[in-house]
Amino acid sequence: MRCRVDDTGGLGPVEVEVGEGGGGVTPASLVTARAIGRIRGQLAGVGIDWGCGTGLLAIVAARIPTVERVVALEVDAGAVEVARRNIARAGSADRVVVVRADGFVPLDEEGRRTLAEVEGYTDFLVANPPASRDGDGLEWRRRLLHGARRYLRPGATVLLQVAAHYGMERIRTVGERCGYRYVDTVERSAWMPFDFDRMDLAEAFEAYVAAEVAGGPPFAFRTPEGWEVTASEVAAGAGPALTSWQAHRYEFLG
Ligand SMILES: C[S@@+](CC[C@H](N)C(=O)[O-])C[C@H]1O[C@@H](n2cnc3c(N)ncnc32)[C@H](O)[C@@H]1O
Repeated sequence: MRCRVDDTGGLGPVEVEVGEGGGGVTPASLVTARAIGRIRGQLAGVGIDWGCGTGLLAIVAARIPTVERVVALEVDAGAVEVARRNIARAGSADRVVVVRADGFVPLDEEGRRTLAEVEGYTDFLVANPPASRDGDGLEWRRRLLHGARRYLRPGATVLLQVAAHYGMERIRTVGERCGYRYVDTVERSAWMPFDFDRMDLAEAFEAYVAAEVAGGPPFAFRTPEGWEVTASEVAAGAGPALTSWQAHRYEFLG
């Protein structure tokens, strides 16, 4: 199945095959793709797309004339194949290389060489990571920001998808302990229902409630009337929970 993404923040439409592994193109993917286009003036040189899935974000980033190379990391073997096909079809194969990696650990020799080349020289990172089932749901993002330090140069730009329901406190501080400064929110979707039919989101929601019960900051869903509600209130039947998918910019301070 193919999916066409029209709004890439001014970088032109992209069509990707979605399928085996890597999931599809979600509202979070669309917001992050648009955000790349919106800040294209600040993206140049070498970038990493962490968890590239279909390859959509890497393809969009590679369209920026000042971007020389994008290293796209993906753990799922099926998704790696899909991403490589999409990248070739988009005419970006000369600038995007897909490395099969678990986190930042390449799973083959060629991948090791490719990542070693960008160690300390990476100018930007884009990521739409999965929600984690542990902690408050942001553990994957914390782990990836920690791992990325080895590759990013000081001053590098990071574009990270974190939905509004995590609340601004978590969004601002997610990378604070390992050298990242929140800059701004680049792009946001309309408020839309949090999709409890998606297994990954339903599991993440359980982690949110547990994090609140453990004393963490409240989550910030919204009702259709615009009231802010916590995860525990939603679990207790506060009605439909809405969220806004968002892409935020951070600076790596080194
Ligand atoms: C939410 S999807 C985003 C896909 C794509 N970047 C997009 O925005 O449409 C997250 C991706 O991260 C990948 N992923 C999950 N765990 C990973 C890991 N340990 N290392 C690398 N990639 C991982 C998944 O396979 C999936 O393709």
